[in-house]
Amino acid sequence: MSSESQVDLFDHHQTQQLWETMRKWRREAPVNRPYPGYVYVARWLDCWEVLRDPRTFSNANGLKSVEVPEEERSLGEMDPPRHTLLRRIVRSGFTRRDVTAREHFTRETADELLSGIAAQGSAELVSEFTDQLPNYVSLDLMGFPKADARRVVVWSRELLHSTWPETNRTERGEGLAGAFPEFSGYIDALSEERSRPGAADGIVTRLAKADVGGARPSQIVLRTLIAQIILGGISTSTNLIGSMLYRLLRDPVLHEKLRDDSSLVSAFVEESLRIDPPVLFVIRNCTAKTKIGGVSIEPGERVVVGIASANRDEDVYDDPDVFRLDRGIPRHLAFAGGTHLCVGAGLARMVAREAVLAYLRHFDVGAMELVPGFRWSGVPVFLEYGPERLDVSIR
Ligand code: HEM
Repeated sequence: MSSESQVDLFDHHQTQQLWETMRKWRREAPVNRPYPGYVYVARWLDCWEVLRDPRTFSNANGLKSVEVPEEERSLGEMDPPRHTLLRRIVRSGFTRRDVTAREHFTRETADELLSGIAAQGSAELVSEFTDQLPNYVSLDLMGFPKADARRVVVWSRELLHSTWPETNRTERGEGLAGAFPEFSGYIDALSEERSRPGAADGIVTRLAKADVGGARPSQIVLRTLIAQIILGGISTSTNLIGSMLYRLLRDPVLHEKLRDDSSLVSAFVEESLRIDPPVLFVIRNCTAKTKIGGVSIEPGERVVVGIASANRDEDVYDDPDVFRLDRGIPRHLAFAGGTHLCVGAGLARMVAREAVLAYLRHFDVGAMELVPGFRWSGVPVFLEYGPERLDVSIR
């Protein structure tokens, strides 16, 4: 497989429908160049080789097509040692205890949102539920007011669907503050309040007081990291919960099985992460001549770690295209792995579990249905996978 291939990895219409191509790549060209400068890695073990070697496969540019000032880089756009330092602080806010402490809030919020939906004759589940719940939880984790959740979702959506993720700017201006002044102002005001002496301990307080090379993080660094936590939670978890509900709406036998045995819900979450990964791939920049799967890779080439492909690798999974609840310990790469393993993985799993449990409590088999003629269309983001809308009717 070579540069003749027609695949465009920056076109979401293509990346969300690549299952056949990925299967062919795994079999015939597991490390290939869809076009010059880009190397796609299709097999689980090869992907893992890339993820575990941040020195050769750098995150420094992330997805941006432009050079971003150091202060404005998110964790996903940093390499060690700066990454190690800041990641440790961010992680301190995502401990098992922090996640467990949010369980009750998540359950209550899911119940509140679904009670509202149950009272209606119809709904669009992405905007009314799957977008809302993870965002409420991320804001709660950071100690931000629940009443602000809806406007934060609107800002986040605008931002994720703008030119900013790729170019660090929009027509309004440069960087987060120039491109999204209201959202930036909101984050700055709340983080300033949370950093005052006497403010309750939490992730923002810890970040504000952190020692970054002998100094406190600047307002820009703080804003960037907080924005990443807000954004990291919203689209990915939204995609996961959306894919799970879409599956339940089409599979009454699975719905019944989970309703009758809620201990299967964790396996449902893991298998959904494997087969419908909310993030289809991550990208690294090769810094030194090397080989993966016997194929030479040159410095300066961008290496695409094919999460969605690795998660269906025939060498790792029996019947990789079949959705099964009995696969045991998850070995999928939905949260990537190595140095940049998703810090929100535990939180995301808990929120997804609570979302499904709440759905099972509120809607029995057949109580909610996709509207006649509903057609799945994916979120308009090239590296994501999940339904853009879920239009349902309610009995
Ligand atoms: C189903 C939900 C989620 C999925 C599939 C997911 C996926 C990922 C992936 C694949 C990465 C690695 C990126 C890379 O290697 O370049 C990542 C990193 C990250 N995620 Fe998540 N994520 C999810 C939920 C969350 C949540 C809920 C949060 C926070 C509230 C979060 C915050 C982050 C952060 C801060 C990083 C950067 C870590 C680093 O670079 O060290 N994620 N996520």
